[in-house]
Amino acid sequence: MTIKKSLSRRSFLSASSLAAGFGFMTATNTVSAKSMNLLDASSIYGPPLHVAKLNANENPYGPSLKAIEAMTEAIGNGAYYVDKSADILREMIAEKHGLTKEHVLLSSGSSSSLTSLAMMASQHGSILGSDLFWDATSKMGTRNSKYGIKRIAKTKDLSIDLDAMYSNIDDETNLVQICNPNNPTGTIIPSENLKKFCKKASLKTMVLVDEAYNEFTDNPEINTMIPLIKSGYNVVVTKTFSKIYGLAGMRVGYMIASPNTIKLVSEYGHNHFYSLNQAGIAAAIACYEDANFLVYSKSKITEAREMIDLALKANGLSSLPSQTSFMFVNLGKIDAEDFRKEMAKENILIRGIYQDYINWSRVSFGKINDVKKYIDALPKVIASLS
Ligand SMILES: Cc1ncc(COP(=O)(O)O)c(C=O)c1O
Repeated sequence: MTIKKSLSRRSFLSASSLAAGFGFMTATNTVSAKSMNLLDASSIYGPPLHVAKLNANENPYGPSLKAIEAMTEAIGNGAYYVDKSADILREMIAEKHGLTKEHVLLSSGSSSSLTSLAMMASQHGSILGSDLFWDATSKMGTRNSKYGIKRIAKTKDLSIDLDAMYSNIDDETNLVQICNPNNPTGTIIPSENLKKFCKKASLKTMVLVDEAYNEFTDNPEINTMIPLIKSGYNVVVTKTFSKIYGLAGMRVGYMIASPNTIKLVSEYGHNHFYSLNQAGIAAAIACYEDANFLVYSKSKITEAREMIDLALKANGLSSLPSQTSFMFVNLGKIDAEDFRKEMAKENILIRGIYQDYINWSRVSFGKINDVKKYIDALPKVIASLS
């Protein structure tokens, strides 16, 4: 289908309604229920109303009202490249962690700085990771490298095996990558264990901790490894506005590391001009410390987590303990790809098989109504595959 055709009259009308909605917001500087409905009605920017989108760990309660207001203001200055606003956000992030803005690299989602780090590291060595982690960026980053990713099997309970990771660091290892909490398993490494690992492993090579889901954990401040950077360890942490902040489509993420590492990674195309956008930065500034929105989002995630947990048990299934906005479900004998297809027939989008974990299925905690659809479909889908 051509792009022109896919932009049907219906889409065009939605887009013009959106524009009208934004015009209204600019005029009054408020976000009305009417304009929010127009945003919800648009299925060109998000899932159609009848589809439960539980496959990408987005926070459907975002963007926050503050973020929407800030974006509305920023788009009027879309003629200008990002400059000062990015420094303001870098300073806000640095101040929160007692660091300088030279420790902070903003990027188009955390994906782009993660990919750059993988490219940089794999020029002269391999990346060491667990067998199942969010590896999209390390795969991209190592594409032209002769080294690639070296994977370490998990423990029996599907935790990351830190002892095995440590003993597999060799002269060729140029980066150790840990996702905590991990995607797609949703589990967390206890903070003390990870801290010990980071301290000793970073004496041998650089350690990257991807903390995309840190804010969903029971104790984000204890679970983050950022203080190690302040103490001078060779540790890099990435975080994102795509998850709890509800800004996945606005593409803002960041990397925290020593100023030297930040300088080296930024040479892979992370000038403010290249990869940032005014609206995304405005939104991130507006919601970075928006405690009300963050607490609300976390409460909805917790509610969904408890609902799915109960429903799985009622249907004879189990899952790994989740500290994230998604859950890794043990389907027993059911094939996860078949399960995904059956759910899709019910207009419920979830993930299929990850590598050789053929009976494990990942479901995101989306809107409560969408989670209900998943729960309601469970008995039928399980019966059809048993
Ligand atoms: C663990 C993890 N890290 C990083 C990302 C990248 O997200 P973004 O580029 O939107 O910041 C994702 C996306 O799902 C993720 O799951």
